[in-house]
Amino acid sequence: MAKALNTAKTAVKRSSGRGRFITFEGGEGAGKSTQIKTLAEHLNAAKLRTLVTREPGGSPGAEIIRHLLLSGMGKLLGPDAETLLFAAARDDHVRSVIQPALSQGTWVLCDRFSDSTRVYQGKLGHVAPAVLNALERVTIGDLKPDLTIILDVPVEVGLQRAAARRGAGVADRFESEDVRFHRELREAYRQIASREPQRCVLIDADADPATVATAVWSAVRDRLLPANAGKAVHSA
Ligand code: TYD
Repeated sequence: MAKALNTAKTAVKRSSGRGRFITFEGGEGAGKSTQIKTLAEHLNAAKLRTLVTREPGGSPGAEIIRHLLLSGMGKLLGPDAETLLFAAARDDHVRSVIQPALSQGTWVLCDRFSDSTRVYQGKLGHVAPAVLNALERVTIGDLKPDLTIILDVPVEVGLQRAAARRGAGVADRFESEDVRFHRELREAYRQIASREPQRCVLIDADADPATVATAVWSAVRDRLLPANAGKAVHSA
């Protein structure tokens, strides 16, 4: 991997202008935060300025809304109102954090983004596509991720990981949904990946973190870094 990064260093000097927008998606316990952290380290080593952020949250206003949402408050209001809260958080996050960073040339790595709304609120919460489309127009406009990495893990594995991570803590609003919910969630993500292969990469996340990290780096290299940055990764 070190050799690959050295090659990437030279190659990325040539890439300039707007930063790249990479989103990570997946069900509970897919390992998104671990993989985002590792990818940020690799990009930083390649001399690319990166910003790691998350949704819901990522800006002071959106973090307040996150607290409401994960406490289950949004659920009490019903699916449409809960969706509005996710949209309000996203609107603030996009305008105050994501857009400014991208225009300064920073690569933004975001833990969940609009696909989460499509899956959790749309597919599973049955919020109408017309509502989701309208909210997307307002909150994200033309801002589409350059790459979406969908970490795919069997439901039982993901739920076990999530339980181990929270220890004695209480399951949040979505972790506490039943196994059928999580199965549908996984299927919905797999459908997005096959519907939009030019934007999305589905990565098997039921492997050790280093193996998953190599697959993530390959996807980023192949799709977003100049051609010669990636070649050495195969031999790393
Ligand atoms: P978080 O603790 O960040 O979970 P995870 O580690 O699984 O990402 O909680 C975020 C929760 O919010 C997660 O269960 C998915 C859900 N969510 C939505 O339902 N809609 C959305 O638009 C977003 C961004 C997240």
